[in-house]
Amino acid sequence: MEASCLNPAILIGERFRKLTRPYIFPTVPSGLVKIIKGLVQPIEQVMEEEFYRIKRLPPYVFAEVNRMKAAARAKGEDIIDLGMGNPDTPPPQHILDKLVEAIQNPRAHGYSMSKGIPGLRKAISNYYMKRFGVSIDPEKEAVVNIGSKEGLYSLATAITKPGDVVMVPNPSYPLHTYGFIIAGASVWSLPNYVNETGLIDHIKDAILHCSPKPVALVLNFPGNPTAEVVGLPFYQEVVDICRFHGIYIISDLAYAEIYFDENNPPPSILQAKGAKEIAIEFTSTSKTYSMAGWRCGFAVGNQHLIKALTHIKSYVDYGSFTPIQVAASAALNGPQDCVAELRTLYKDRRDTLIKGLHSAGWDIPVPSASMFAWAPIPEKFKELKSLEFSKQLLQNAGVAVAPGIGFGQYGDDYVRIALVENSQRIKQACKNMKKFLQS
Ligand SMILES: Cc1ncc(COP(=O)(O)O)c(C=O)c1O
Repeated sequence: MEASCLNPAILIGERFRKLTRPYIFPTVPSGLVKIIKGLVQPIEQVMEEEFYRIKRLPPYVFAEVNRMKAAARAKGEDIIDLGMGNPDTPPPQHILDKLVEAIQNPRAHGYSMSKGIPGLRKAISNYYMKRFGVSIDPEKEAVVNIGSKEGLYSLATAITKPGDVVMVPNPSYPLHTYGFIIAGASVWSLPNYVNETGLIDHIKDAILHCSPKPVALVLNFPGNPTAEVVGLPFYQEVVDICRFHGIYIISDLAYAEIYFDENNPPPSILQAKGAKEIAIEFTSTSKTYSMAGWRCGFAVGNQHLIKALTHIKSYVDYGSFTPIQVAASAALNGPQDCVAELRTLYKDRRDTLIKGLHSAGWDIPVPSASMFAWAPIPEKFKELKSLEFSKQLLQNAGVAVAPGIGFGQYGDDYVRIALVENSQRIKQACKNMKKFLQS
């Protein structure tokens, strides 16, 4: 039977529905199928192919550069890839050893726990006490995520509905916006290229003018893509404002441990007074221990948000593979000198990049944290905007970067350069870019 005739009753019903009021057709006796067959529309004319949530998602901006990168590589060209924020170093050996040990346990291969194994929730709670002096109840105030990306997405689905508005800095990590767009909510963009005071002004402005009142605010410091950092006074002010207006705060602290000023590690929003009444914070093993592919992150903080996130996850997933959670516990509980070494590695790469770009006549702000440099497009190329400039860097210098427009419209005068190749390759990238920029 042709696809279009699989269920003639439904298809004919569909045609009728267009002409008359809704009508449910009874099952069609088999003898009638032949007669009806002649009347049936092709299936593509009656099936819905444009889905509500998919229609809300624009084409993926990075896809075009990725396609060009793949095509260049297929031709045998050497592309230095500073595009995606994907750590290029392996996790420390003691974490790998723990994974290998845990995987030998015959009881470790079943479904895990959606909210995370107790030992790992205890480990993240100990980390918050040691690192930030913040007490976290592992039962009520912590949940393990399959990477913080999953956690952010699940939380957006759990707490918003169509008609709700969420304040999100722009540019931002795409999921900060699109998690809520997928959930059906609307996003109020806060231009994020300004200093801390500027951002607070934008938050106040949004609260004043946005109707309905926003339900939540997203923050991400150290920021992706901007590498911006903030201090505790900033968090305190934002917490005070949001508590006053009854607005939740979602803080993404994925780059908590990738900072270059040893005397000034990034704070947690939960250090601010009263923060736990309204704030949840996401952290991750992905960047801290180079475990990006393992998919293991955390959410801690406000009990209502944690409960909502845990509840929705209980329907959707069974948690990360148990041996991964055991190894993640070892990462958090074990020696942290590996993290200090990683910071040194990224700092060396950052210095190489800044020096190399300087000698190419491209001076950019020096990032004090994260694994990115947020580089304003040089004056001479500014008109091209970020997508075209990124394409030209790829074609003429063999260097892949992320166009700023992929992080929001306020990012279009910038490109993001990720420190994910070794210093030698970064030096080479700068030489290539120098030739192109000065041509
Ligand atoms: C700001 C930010 N949040 C979250 C994530 C996702 O991290 P995870 O690997 O924990 O899902 C990333 C990944 O690049 C990121 O840059």
